[in-house]
Amino acid sequence: MEKREQIYEGKAKKVFATDDAELVIVSYKDDATALDGLKKGTIAGKGAVNNRMSNFLMQILEKEGVPTHFVKELSDRETVVKKVSIVPLEVIIRNISAGSFAKRYGVEEGIVFDAPTIEFSYKNDELHDPLINSYHAVALKLATSAEIDRIKEMAFKVNSVLREYFLRLGVKLVDFKLEFGRLPDGTIVLADEISPDTCRFWDSKTNEKLDKDRFRRDMGGVEDAYREMMKRVFGSC
Ligand code: TMP
Ligand code: ASP
Repeated sequence: MEKREQIYEGKAKKVFATDDAELVIVSYKDDATALDGLKKGTIAGKGAVNNRMSNFLMQILEKEGVPTHFVKELSDRETVVKKVSIVPLEVIIRNISAGSFAKRYGVEEGIVFDAPTIEFSYKNDELHDPLINSYHAVALKLATSAEIDRIKEMAFKVNSVLREYFLRLGVKLVDFKLEFGRLPDGTIVLADEISPDTCRFWDSKTNEKLDKDRFRRDMGGVEDAYREMMKRVFGSC
């Protein structure tokens, strides 16, 4: 396969065309942003951690029956994925209160929910990714009602697989954000990434934060946290 021109550059990844119209190559950067892009920095080694971890987790999910965009890891930072049209929704699952949930409802972080929750944000930089409900998403034609049902089903399945997986590594999966895409035939697949950028990971015993919150909140030890998660995932297989 041949890598062709860059077709997109996001905050954390670049996407390149290939000689196959159905495949693209994603290249993970060390760049990090937070607070809607206001806070910028780099996290050394992050691109490789996120690429390798995301690919590994997507392969676990595929085995559990969740279709994903993953095709083939090319190198530490580059992966071939199926070209999809992204559904412009950020799908957030929460098991424990944290972040914007704790802030919005005025509750402490760390409350374990009886059942996981789901919410959607409209992926729209100009509007700053506002919270949206599924009826509004359908009204805006961001997705059909059947697609949203499928996305919810897949997102909860991802949660049950990954929550159990991380628990065995001594990590609580607090919450995470997923994105989904459509293949040319309309099939919905899991896309984007699953990494310490997009998940909250807390050490099971100490509740130490092992994810991007260390960058968002200027806590220090950012690189160490990404390295520790890498060790937990790849030290165990
Ligand atoms: P939140 O509590 O700030 O809404 O974040 C919920 C989860 O979503 C958390 O695991 C971090 C992840 N997330 C992203 O991946 N990208 C984003 O832009 C935001 C705001 C959150
Ligand atoms: N990456 C997002 C931004 O720059 C936010 C985040 O992950 O906290 O806005």
